[in-house]
Amino acid sequence: MNYGYFDELSKEYVINRPDTPSPWCNYLGSVDYGAIISNNATGYSFVKSGASGRIIRFRFNSASNDQPGRYIYIRDNSDGDFWSGSWQPVCKPLDKYKSECRHGTAYTQISSSYRSIDTTALYFVPLDKNYEVWQFKIKNNGSEQKNLSVYGMVEFTNHDHYENDTVNLQYSQFISKTYFKGDHILQVINENGSEASSDVDGHCDTMGDPSCRFFGVAGQTVSAFDGEREAFLGYYRNYGNPLAVETGKCSNTAAYNCNSFGALQIDITLAPGEEKEMVFILGAGNEEIAKSVINKYNGEAANTISNVVNTQFEELKKFWHARLNNLQVNTPDSNLNNMVNVWNAYQCFITFLWSRAASFQYCGLRNGLGYRDTVQDIQGIIHLDDKLARERLWLMLSAQVSNGGGLPLVKFDHKAGHVKTPDESEYAKSTGQSYYRADDALWLFPTVITYIKESGEWSFIDEVIPYADKGEATVYNHLRQAIQFNLDRQGSHGFPAGLFADWNDCLRLGTKGESMFVAFQLYYALVIFKEFAQKKGLSDDVKWADEHLDRLSTQFDQYAWQEDQYVRGFTEDGYTIGAKENAEANIWLNPQTWSVISGAAKGEKAKTALNSVYNKLNTKYGARLFYPPFKKYGMPVARMVLFNEGTKENAGIFSQPQGWLILAETIVGNGNRAYEYFTEINPAAMNNHAEIRKLEPYVHGQATEGIDTLNHGRSHVHWLTGTASTVMVSLVNGILGLQPQYDGIKLDPCIPSAWKEFTMNKVFRGKMLNIKVENNEGVEKGVKYIVINGKKLDGCYISCDDIADTNDVLVVMGK
Ligand code: NOJ
Repeated sequence: MNYGYFDELSKEYVINRPDTPSPWCNYLGSVDYGAIISNNATGYSFVKSGASGRIIRFRFNSASNDQPGRYIYIRDNSDGDFWSGSWQPVCKPLDKYKSECRHGTAYTQISSSYRSIDTTALYFVPLDKNYEVWQFKIKNNGSEQKNLSVYGMVEFTNHDHYENDTVNLQYSQFISKTYFKGDHILQVINENGSEASSDVDGHCDTMGDPSCRFFGVAGQTVSAFDGEREAFLGYYRNYGNPLAVETGKCSNTAAYNCNSFGALQIDITLAPGEEKEMVFILGAGNEEIAKSVINKYNGEAANTISNVVNTQFEELKKFWHARLNNLQVNTPDSNLNNMVNVWNAYQCFITFLWSRAASFQYCGLRNGLGYRDTVQDIQGIIHLDDKLARERLWLMLSAQVSNGGGLPLVKFDHKAGHVKTPDESEYAKSTGQSYYRADDALWLFPTVITYIKESGEWSFIDEVIPYADKGEATVYNHLRQAIQFNLDRQGSHGFPAGLFADWNDCLRLGTKGESMFVAFQLYYALVIFKEFAQKKGLSDDVKWADEHLDRLSTQFDQYAWQEDQYVRGFTEDGYTIGAKENAEANIWLNPQTWSVISGAAKGEKAKTALNSVYNKLNTKYGARLFYPPFKKYGMPVARMVLFNEGTKENAGIFSQPQGWLILAETIVGNGNRAYEYFTEINPAAMNNHAEIRKLEPYVHGQATEGIDTLNHGRSHVHWLTGTASTVMVSLVNGILGLQPQYDGIKLDPCIPSAWKEFTMNKVFRGKMLNIKVENNEGVEKGVKYIVINGKKLDGCYISCDDIADTNDVLVVMGK
């Protein structure tokens, strides 16, 4: 069953049935002002933080699933019938009410058609602004004049802090007021507070800071308002039948000791064929700010709207499309194209910007950047915006502790050089995190090398960056210290300890239990470090890296390889996790893929490990994290037993590792299998089976249910997942074969043998590569030669010396 389609030309996903199997969302805004909106206009907004800057209230996990949101009601005053500009919340019968939602890059447009009245609401956050606009157009397509009322509404939180607002009612209900100011409702929180009365460090997540928000309208005159929720909705009612809309009259009530609200009523008449327009604006700021923002959208003449909103919208689209246009591909698979060109790319930016902070599942309380997640997320955008990637990479290096480990949580207001570490109780107190993860800083290696090779900025390796707690070092030495962190924490086989977690949040191996995932990561880190050391001519460091690489290689063969698979690790009392003889969890995905990615497993061993995955873990919706699930036996260190079997880390199809699987298959040259895996998990490929996957068909989710559940194939936790970056890397670097090098670029695709040709337009260091790949021999991997601007090159490497501003590149694959 499908609920929509990809509009490739406009880079939009179009939902033409509003009763989607779950709310299908989009992200608007920036790190200064974020907004989540569903295809039914539900969702919430926040300034800087979903935890402590919350503006719109949202009821997580409520029975109506995703209410409230940014609702606009329309009432026909001739008979009192009313509906909403989005299907929810009034929910008119779908045989009479038509709706279309277009999710685009940082905007969402929802149209409705009912009783010959057409409406369009365009929601977006203008670039560099900390407010959102809802441009609303309403047109009479009937043959008679219409006398209508339009109501824009928003349910404010009473307090900026999500948790306070939701549960601390004896406080939050008594600190907020609303005022009507002609063209807007002003909400004031802690009106009598001041700097002096604010708590400890003066943040708005402490109680006492005064703050204001506004909800206003430009282009039309407000006829009435409601600043109090119950005045608008009425008691014992809901968003589907608000009293004010039903009776046709807001009651002009302001809030005092109750729930603050913004409802503005605009009465209009529309002649046949006539259209009117208004712009609702929601943001943070006092009356002065509100007035100046709203005035910007008022046209010169009364009741007109200037074209400010159209200009801002075009700027926004241009900004995003320019970013995405740094890589556009046209392969025989439009589902793959849609992901690479638009949706996976956009999701990578959203995870990059918002980490795991705010979605319909994450309520924002993780108020900072997880180390591993963030360093991984950077990889997803390097090929599209290396400058932005560099800033965040710098930040994350400055959040590395001087002992080499990563800070588990990097606060949004991180101050390098002054941060307490997990070794100190203050850190645990302020973040709730008291232990190091074994893998955190090891993610820096693939990210740093990818950044340097994409940007060409080799000098980054010598940039001096502070540590989180004390001291500073070059990037090179930050990396060496990251390796040292793991060398200093090892178990009895000489493999790195798993500490509080390795990549897997549910594996608590402690200071003596060993993680094979981290062991392979460490191996990979040493490979990359050695490459840097060689390039810098530091032979002692090369020797040091080699010694550890050799040692690890021997240990892998000796302790970790079992016939056709690698084990997952060792507990501190000697139990082997992921051993073939175990009753549960006797084959794991990540050690197989990472043995290949790291380069530790070579030749036949690499292929054998991947074959085991294919034979024992693959399903039609992707490969399981391990099998069989923990149920009867479990292990004390394996917290995933708490999840139902087949779910998430307990033998679910965890999405992020699928990217590593695809990448690993491309490394060994299995284009067909890499593509098969990609297709299994490609959201776009599930567009016609939305009733099974349930999540948005344009974004990856965190996990899909495995074969042991009642709903094999159903995906969960939309948008904010490391899957975005790992799958993107596997596509760009692996399948499409775009592999920047220090002084050039390799073009080495690994594709399904059925693809005869495809094209790619890639901006590389400011220069355009218009690439055509031909595969007449039907191979999966292998480049015979390249022709660039008429010059033939053997193999798959193009040196920067051969790259002009614009380039025609032909890549000929074959044996
Ligand atoms: C989700 C977390 O955000 C991520 O850091 C972790 O690696 C995965 N869960 C797997 O446990």
